Amino acid sequence: MIVIDQEQRIFTLHTSHTTYQMQADPYHVLLHAYYGPRVEEDMTYLIRRADRSHTPNPDEAGNRRDYSLDTLPQEYSTCGVGDYRIPSLEVEQADGSHAVDLRYTGYEVRKGKYTLEGLPAFWGQEAETLILFLEDPASHVVAELYYGVFEDVDLITRAVRIVNRGEKPVRLLKAASLCLDLPYAAPLDIITFAGRHMMERCPTRTPLAPGIQGVGTTRGLSSHQNNPFVMLCRPDAGEEHGLCYGAMLLYSGSFEAMAERSQLEDCRLVMGINPYHFSWTLEPGGAFQTPEAAMVCSPSGFGQMSRRFHRAIREHLLRDPYEGRRRPVLVNNWEATTFDFDADKLVEIAQAAAPMGIELLVMDDGWFGDRDDDYRALGDWAVNLRKLPGGLEALVPRIQELGMRFGIWVEPEMISEDSALYRQHPDWALAIPGRAHTRGRSQLVLDFSRQDVRDHIYGALKAVLSSAEITYVKWDANRTLATVWSAQLPSERQGEVYHRYVLGVYDMLERLHQDFPQMLIEGCAGGGGRFDAGMLYYTPQIWCSDNTDAVDRLRIQYGTSFAYPVSAMGAHVSAVPNAGTLRTTPLETRGVVAMAGTFGYEMDLSKTTPEERELMARQVRFFKEHYDLIQRGDYYRLTDPFENGPFTAWEHVSPDRREALASVVTGPVCGNPPFRTLYLRGLDPALRYRVEGGAAYSGAALMEGGYPLPMELLMGDYQSFQLYLKAE
Ligand code: GLA
Repeated sequence: MIVIDQEQRIFTLHTSHTTYQMQADPYHVLLHAYYGPRVEEDMTYLIRRADRSHTPNPDEAGNRRDYSLDTLPQEYSTCGVGDYRIPSLEVEQADGSHAVDLRYTGYEVRKGKYTLEGLPAFWGQEAETLILFLEDPASHVVAELYYGVFEDVDLITRAVRIVNRGEKPVRLLKAASLCLDLPYAAPLDIITFAGRHMMERCPTRTPLAPGIQGVGTTRGLSSHQNNPFVMLCRPDAGEEHGLCYGAMLLYSGSFEAMAERSQLEDCRLVMGINPYHFSWTLEPGGAFQTPEAAMVCSPSGFGQMSRRFHRAIREHLLRDPYEGRRRPVLVNNWEATTFDFDADKLVEIAQAAAPMGIELLVMDDGWFGDRDDDYRALGDWAVNLRKLPGGLEALVPRIQELGMRFGIWVEPEMISEDSALYRQHPDWALAIPGRAHTRGRSQLVLDFSRQDVRDHIYGALKAVLSSAEITYVKWDANRTLATVWSAQLPSERQGEVYHRYVLGVYDMLERLHQDFPQMLIEGCAGGGGRFDAGMLYYTPQIWCSDNTDAVDRLRIQYGTSFAYPVSAMGAHVSAVPNAGTLRTTPLETRGVVAMAGTFGYEMDLSKTTPEERELMARQVRFFKEHYDLIQRGDYYRLTDPFENGPFTAWEHVSPDRREALASVVTGPVCGNPPFRTLYLRGLDPALRYRVEGGAAYSGAALMEGGYPLPMELLMGDYQSFQLYLKAE
């Protein structure tokens, strides 16, 4: 609900459980008053002024020294006019000055959620939109602040459109999507999700110290190394209690999220496109649209924050062709064969998979051009007829005869120097004239800021995807950007290339979505190198990590779950010893861990024993039976795998709380182990839950007293256990 006090110029955004409030003050400066648990009152009493020497005062304040942009909570911070904290907007004016001052000029309320052309955004007819107009009186640069209010899921989205209403061109050097000043802040911790290839999104918690702390990337992809999701929380906050905020950017390129604890111990969080090598020229009348950011506040700990994001993403972000239905359980041939396969090998895997209830065969890298290793052929998107005689037209029906569907891997953004495409169009790769290439996995990146390059690649992909009944695409990107320069832009506009590249990727994905609305697209970037809410708008599931080791996955999936739902996390059972870690874990455990994601297999099923196949068939049956509970239920993290405790556990609870599934994986075995107890969460204390094939307990007993873990489970490394509960 949006409430506007016209006289006091107070703007209040209410979701069911949170409130966000701003005020345009007598000098028309838009101040932030409050973001937190829902309150019904005027919170502007929190905005305080005092004479702080050595902070400048704007002209209108005359000799009044208690009014300074540097000490007041700003809704969208400026630069060059007296606020020295992190700017949200940096503008180089036509005269070369770096200054922009923003004053409130008006507002607009719209029914439904705003949309952003060419950019991912949360959607919803029931949501509401508030737009606040701010203008720099000297240059007439306008900032339109967009707010989307999703009452049902307690989500507030933000985006900013910068318009040059002046008469001279200006250059944007920074345009953040979100600025959040928490003036009343008690001490806060910042939680970020750093990692690396094969070990993505590991939470790190640090107290906010005076100065600026933050994360970001200049890699051109949202990256394995940092994630465009950050949290702020009170030092006493934890999984089940305490005030916390989460902010995510719907952006898949270079981003930055910076938090500043200022001289007065306030906190400012600014999040948006990374200003590194970013500039955007706005001619008179020109506009720039920032990506969207989304915020959740939870007074009751991280778990509640995550569940709010999960619901918001499931119900208002994903465009899932399987909406309301079950997505297929798949088998992917990558870890089984890498590049060494042919049609018969794929059919052999499918023949083993079909009787287990697996529904989709995904043909991974190696099916096109002369791609027998990862040194060549990217860009040559035509079927290799030596490996697949008769092409997809011949192969796909063979898979379909087994009752399975067919999916395919592509890496459209890349080009190998050893490819027909490169020989024909060497200028299509991102490269700086006169400077040597920088290779990653021996490949170059195509200049997706260019329409002609995109059109060519899209045409080739569309021909492949239309040549047979293909129901799934895995969209991969196996290197990051460097030597960024586009042959199609003049030198003064090279600062646009990084962002135009991301817009190009979105354009391609949107075309795919429009042309093949029933196609399930899975995102991927060397595993989880582009796992962000922007991609989720186009690819409702993303391969979580190239690391399929079940024990490492406990950590990766735990970290990922802070922002993103189970239904977004690509997770597969693979062979042991694991290719990446050489660790051996039981097949049961690999199944339990992969089931906390989209679930599938990634191994040569034709080489498995009858006992293993029998177990896998049971895993598939179990997953299908509990699909809704796992994929659409409320998610509870019961332990933190980074604490190296005796076991890791998580739980899915149905929205009506009548069903729950808890999963447990133990750590390395120890002699004479103590008894272990699993404390369930999210149940109805008054209901009685029956353990499948066992006794019944009240929700209160299971949550307060807990459930005793069976002793057998504590014998052997990395054992697993699932507890299915149903209310009587
Ligand atoms: C990346 C992906 C893998 C696989 C390979 C193929 O590493 O993350 O799943 O598709 O590329 O080259």
